[in-house]
Amino acid sequence: MRAISAPDEIFITARNFRMDGQSIGLVPTMGALHEGHLALIKKSLEDNDITVVSIFVNPLQFNSHEDLINYPSSIEEDKAMLQSLEVDILFEPTKEKFYTLKPVVGISFGELETTLEGKHRPGHFAGVGIVVNKLLNLVQPDRAYFGLKDLQQYAIIRRMVEDLSMPVEIVGVETIRERSGLAMSSRNRRLSNEGLDIGSEIYKGLLFAEGELKKKRNPKDVKADLVSFYSDIHGLEVEYVEILDPVTFTSAQTVHHDEVAVCFAGYVEGVRLIDNLIFAPDRS
Ligand code: PAF
Repeated sequence: MRAISAPDEIFITARNFRMDGQSIGLVPTMGALHEGHLALIKKSLEDNDITVVSIFVNPLQFNSHEDLINYPSSIEEDKAMLQSLEVDILFEPTKEKFYTLKPVVGISFGELETTLEGKHRPGHFAGVGIVVNKLLNLVQPDRAYFGLKDLQQYAIIRRMVEDLSMPVEIVGVETIRERSGLAMSSRNRRLSNEGLDIGSEIYKGLLFAEGELKKKRNPKDVKADLVSFYSDIHGLEVEYVEILDPVTFTSAQTVHHDEVAVCFAGYVEGVRLIDNLIFAPDRS
């Protein structure tokens, strides 16, 4: 595996691969890699000749300084994991080299960011939009891989690529879960064993909502029941629960949608966790 930190070097290296006719997959990450990242990387290795994994904790997408400084990091373990998977390139820029100037360009995602993360983390997606644009411009991959746990991120990136005619395929990869059902996340490392147990209740709640929606109950009532399910769990603080159309991100008023997404965000031991479940309410 070749490790590159300079933006101009990744640009030239990726361009040389393309000129040789090799396809490139990009897996953008913020490090502290886990099984969820591995699923993205394995998919890229399967689909492409060359896989580039980026590790960069993007300060622009953190709307709280405390969250940024507490973001987990395990660079040596990450590198060992990437080596063992035979990833071709690790791109790990420094903040100084990546943002030589503080960007003045603003990216907004209109109605797609008026709910969920966009509503609760002001400025978050503007920061994601900038960093993903820069990475796509530097690497110019054929495909880029994103986890569906970050459903709204996946949706806004797909839309950005569509709106700006960016020549890349955005591939969404299913959420990987612990045996307990807890969605894999770098932030889980900050939880105690008790916190991990509490966190696993999030998925149970989502499954409960799925069952209720499949019985054709009204989404508004199911949402109220889900909030009450979570509020009974000691140590779990709900930030939001939403039942939405996973494409438009508008509230599901009825169960007559091809698919609905039940989305959760909240805190366990001060750690912010998100999760979602997407399903067709008409299918059992
Ligand atoms: O999902 C993430 O880890 C980040 O938001 C991403 C896409 C790497 C951008 O910093």
